Amino acid sequence: MNKVNQICCIGAGYVGGPTMAVIAKQCPNIKVTVVDINQKRIDQWNADDLDNLPIYEPGLKEIIAETRDRNLFFSTNVDKAIEDAEMIFISVNTPTKTYGKGKGQASDLKYIELCARNIAKVAKTDKIVVEKSTLPVRTAEAIKSILDNTGNGVQFEILSNPEFLAEGTAVEDLLAADRVLIGGQETPSGQAAKDTLSWVYEHWLPKERVLQTNVWSSELSKLVANAFLAQRVSSINSISALCEKTDANVAEVSRAIGFDSRIGSKFLNSSVGFGGSCFQKDILNLVYIAKSFGLNEVADYWEQVIIMNDYQKRRFAENIISTLYNTVSGKKIALYGWAFKKDTNDTRESAAIYVADLLLEEQAEIIVYDPKVKEDTIYNDLDYLNSRDPKENRRLLKVVNDPMEAANDAHAIAILTEWDEFKTLDWNKIYSEMLKPAFVFDGRRILEREKMDEIGFKFYRIGES
Ligand code: NAD
Ligand code: UDX
Repeated sequence: MNKVNQICCIGAGYVGGPTMAVIAKQCPNIKVTVVDINQKRIDQWNADDLDNLPIYEPGLKEIIAETRDRNLFFSTNVDKAIEDAEMIFISVNTPTKTYGKGKGQASDLKYIELCARNIAKVAKTDKIVVEKSTLPVRTAEAIKSILDNTGNGVQFEILSNPEFLAEGTAVEDLLAADRVLIGGQETPSGQAAKDTLSWVYEHWLPKERVLQTNVWSSELSKLVANAFLAQRVSSINSISALCEKTDANVAEVSRAIGFDSRIGSKFLNSSVGFGGSCFQKDILNLVYIAKSFGLNEVADYWEQVIIMNDYQKRRFAENIISTLYNTVSGKKIALYGWAFKKDTNDTRESAAIYVADLLLEEQAEIIVYDPKVKEDTIYNDLDYLNSRDPKENRRLLKVVNDPMEAANDAHAIAILTEWDEFKTLDWNKIYSEMLKPAFVFDGRRILEREKMDEIGFKFYRIGES
């Protein structure tokens, strides 16, 4: 087994940044260079002000402070980093295609292909190329073909090493990963490459947590893991709708079923709907792959997870409208939270975007407060949906920096992200600022019913009648 001295990672995003920071921390003898074509992102990673890193993750800035310019470097010089590294991670974005064949379902692999072509062009010595991005099954084959046919005659070994971190807990997840998955060819050189990457992770993880498989199992396992997790959320959300029609309480149902060790208690929190850049994208990709093999029943089965999630977001917005006497036109509704979950500034596919869009369709006036999301991001998210003139989004929706200001004269507050600070707000004061009757719609089940009822709110919590 060979050791490596220099690693490079192409893509300085939500995965590339934290993953490489943790590798640099745990492997001080390896030089890690993270490269990106986005100059602004690299400048933010290199900036003195660690409170302005391009992504927010608890514990990350401390690691950056320790490792940056010691053995962790951020740069836009992609070619140099490729040339110097013995191992290259590809961690670029693989969004759902918005054009052509597979539009709306398949993953867009253009950034991956560009990386492969660039590596082929630049590499002068043998490299291990690691797929860190989430990719459809058999992508490694395509990468290998590009590298072998257009390269400079050097040897490439392709590994699949999908990332399982969740945002908001990325550092924790990386430092104490349940498992690391490494897929590679079942040849002597493939085995050697798998062992080299295992050696990197074994700097801090027990050997038995590093699983080696063939490439295709590894690629598929990543899609399946996300599909299973999202399926649990959609399953409990489907039950939340039933609970709202009966006297059952979804939290009690979750608890009761979660005690069964075969089911387990995690990922059973009913919510306004799952968001994030991964769940929907990866399930759509799974659906597309199943369809492309003619497995229509398999595709339909998994697609239902997304249909249920869309239903949940719509149901939440429609409940606000019907509760506010079937009209929200000109009514002020405060949205608490825009990020897709707490402890991240990431808003990709956040339920808040869709809830806001439905309320704006009804001409509601919306005031958003989120502790980490910037105003520009919120407007970009809405404009991207293309539902109305961007000017209209700015006229009807305002962003504020203070939850009290958002509540001022509001008819209703909807909690869309489970930020801890929402639990400890002065809800008595908020009540006094609002118009009466004052409605609160808790899409994250973070507030106590008794307390909210006592203050005088008309309180709605998802999954309760
Ligand atoms: P991201 O959009 O935050 O970051 C990707 C970065 O790659 C961007 O900064 C972009 O500028 C850069 N890039 C694109 N093409 C490039 C090129 N040719 N050369 C150099 N840089 C280039 O994306 P992300 O959230 O980090 O996701 C990356 C991959 O990891 C995706 O496949 C995703 O599915 C997967 N993943 C994401 C998460 C997550 O929580 N976000 C978790 C597990 C897996
Ligand atoms: C997910 C996977 O967990 C991770 O392993 C993978 O690498 C990337 O995709 P992420 O999307 O960052 O991670 O966050 P996650 O904690 O999985 O939450 C996804 C969404 O589901 C969030 O909107 C969250 O609020 C929601 N969720 C999660 C629920 O509504 N209920 C739950 O019980 C759990």
